[in-house]
Amino acid sequence: MRPNAQIDTAIDADLRVAKSLLRFNTCGSVDDGKSTLIGRMLFESGVIPKDQLAALEADSKRVGTRPGELDYALLLDGLSAEREQGITIDVSYRFFATDKRKFIVADTPGHEQYTRNMVTGASTADLSIILIDARKGVLTQTRRHSYLVWLLGIRHVVLVVNKMDLVDYSNDVFAKIEADYRAFAEQLGFDEITCIPVSAVRGDNIMKHSTATPWYQGATLMGLLNEVQVDHSRLRNDPLRMPVQWVNRPNLDFRGFAGTIVAGTVKPGDMVRVQPSNKTTKVSRIVSFDGDLPSATVGQSITLTLADEVDVSRGDLIVTADSPAEIANQFEATVVWMNEGPLLRGRTYLLKIGTKTVTATVGAIKNKINVNNLEQVPAPTLGLNEIGVCNLELDRPIAFDAYKVNRDTGGFILIDRMTNDTVGAGMLHFALRRAQNVHWQALDVNKQARAAIKGQKPCLLWYTGLSGAGKSTIANLVDKKLHSMNRHTYLLDGDNVRHGLNKDLGFTAADRVENIRRIAEVARLMVDAGLIVSTAFISPFRAEREMARYLLPPGEFIEIFVDTPLSVAEQRDPKGLYKKARRGELKNFTGIDSPYETPEKPELRIDTTLLSPEAAAERVVAFLQARGALEGPA
Ligand code: ADX
Repeated sequence: MRPNAQIDTAIDADLRVAKSLLRFNTCGSVDDGKSTLIGRMLFESGVIPKDQLAALEADSKRVGTRPGELDYALLLDGLSAEREQGITIDVSYRFFATDKRKFIVADTPGHEQYTRNMVTGASTADLSIILIDARKGVLTQTRRHSYLVWLLGIRHVVLVVNKMDLVDYSNDVFAKIEADYRAFAEQLGFDEITCIPVSAVRGDNIMKHSTATPWYQGATLMGLLNEVQVDHSRLRNDPLRMPVQWVNRPNLDFRGFAGTIVAGTVKPGDMVRVQPSNKTTKVSRIVSFDGDLPSATVGQSITLTLADEVDVSRGDLIVTADSPAEIANQFEATVVWMNEGPLLRGRTYLLKIGTKTVTATVGAIKNKINVNNLEQVPAPTLGLNEIGVCNLELDRPIAFDAYKVNRDTGGFILIDRMTNDTVGAGMLHFALRRAQNVHWQALDVNKQARAAIKGQKPCLLWYTGLSGAGKSTIANLVDKKLHSMNRHTYLLDGDNVRHGLNKDLGFTAADRVENIRRIAEVARLMVDAGLIVSTAFISPFRAEREMARYLLPPGEFIEIFVDTPLSVAEQRDPKGLYKKARRGELKNFTGIDSPYETPEKPELRIDTTLLSPEAAAERVVAFLQARGALEGPA
């Protein structure tokens, strides 16, 4: 959840400890005046160099700002900011200070309608400013942002009711917005909500109390930010958690483990545990840029050397030996979905937690939250910006804490394996106990033994293509040829499997994903049984075909793209389904109103406009022979 850990560390290692630093973020809808507010705060705090102020005055005149006023939003464009590198999230961090305190504000410009930026900005914040346009009042977006801020563990909220000048500084308008907001936020349980009437453009109640709002006696925005108490001490007193960022081995005599401490304090001589392997050892030295340290704590980037030669790699967690993190591979988690395509049960993503990246499959989706009334509603999928609870299954165990215990060891992001986009963010709740109780049974008669007795190398021929492309016909011919060569085979065919194992599934995207997930798992078992397996399913989505590929060792998954143009398949229309679909009597038909994602790098592509089914089948068999796939076991 905190992709910006390095920035974090670089700036606030000792600042945080000295309690002089406040990190906050701003949430608002488009045009609520977020940039103006941040620009105003920077201006008021005096961090703007003189020449930039002059330029700003000129620019403000040019864009027609009222006399005597500056366009503070323009200011931000001119200022440099730490920008995050390498990920698709657009967040920049602005630094400023008053005589009381230093501040880092996460500024999330760009696609404000997407929660992604806001979540990233909030993930390191101590406090959130929720911005409201006084003319619009509390919006769904306000509630969504507040819910997210709360989920992310922020307990201090400032409701800035902006553009008060445009509602004649009306106490009634402000009071109504405050009441609306409090009625909603009360259900969440923030420690502190402060509501302030503001005009960011004019500076009302930002630094000084405004004469335009005599009815408001509360704190000014900067006054509040200067004074608000945030307690960073809990994390420092927690057990040690240090995700290993990299292994530092400049020569044979030195082996150090570098990372940023996300909880606890460490000293030489402390007993630590490396997770998930659970090996224990002692800390020898704490190495830093400033030489060896007597101790180190939350926010510091250090290199630890250990007394024993234990195996440690990137992504491991170094923890206090007798207060370790939990280890599991199945969880319940809250997920905030940030992608246009929905979150679907059965789909596989990369999950990045701390410095570790694993593969995660979405299990049951339990519910989603209606952010307007905070009700949980049953949900088969999560759409863009929706928040829900689901199970996750990982390909291997990881060490973790619940998110409410630690944001870093319990927060994660989900990444699309093909596009590398961050598509979701989440918080781990707890491990599912079934993961601990169901063990993988080691069997004595294994895949090699079963394959050997058949004298063959097992593999999976995965045919994919449009309905009517010729998948079943070709797969059936290949199966016959292999059978006549004394190969032990099995053919799983779409129409047939949908009469039994998958008869509960239809053709929505969610059902197709589940259809293919089950087929891939069954095919894997059959390959494990030593068979040469063929599957003939449209399998329209790249993600599921890739998932099936990853289930098998390299080389055993052979993707065969039965490439028939839609026009040709439609003309053949052996089952009359295209006609039905065109008449609108069949919904979600592949190629008509449901997508087919063409394979990018299939092992074999068969153009059925050039090859007869018989010739295509021969091509497949020849391909297998050339690969040595039809020889005996290795
Ligand atoms: S998949 O998309 O989930 O892989 P699958 O291969 O199992 O589909 O089933 C496809 C077969 O179901 C088609 O060959 C066709 O006979 C039938 N069918 C019925 N409705 C649809 C539909 N809406 N889209 C595609 N195929 C359909």
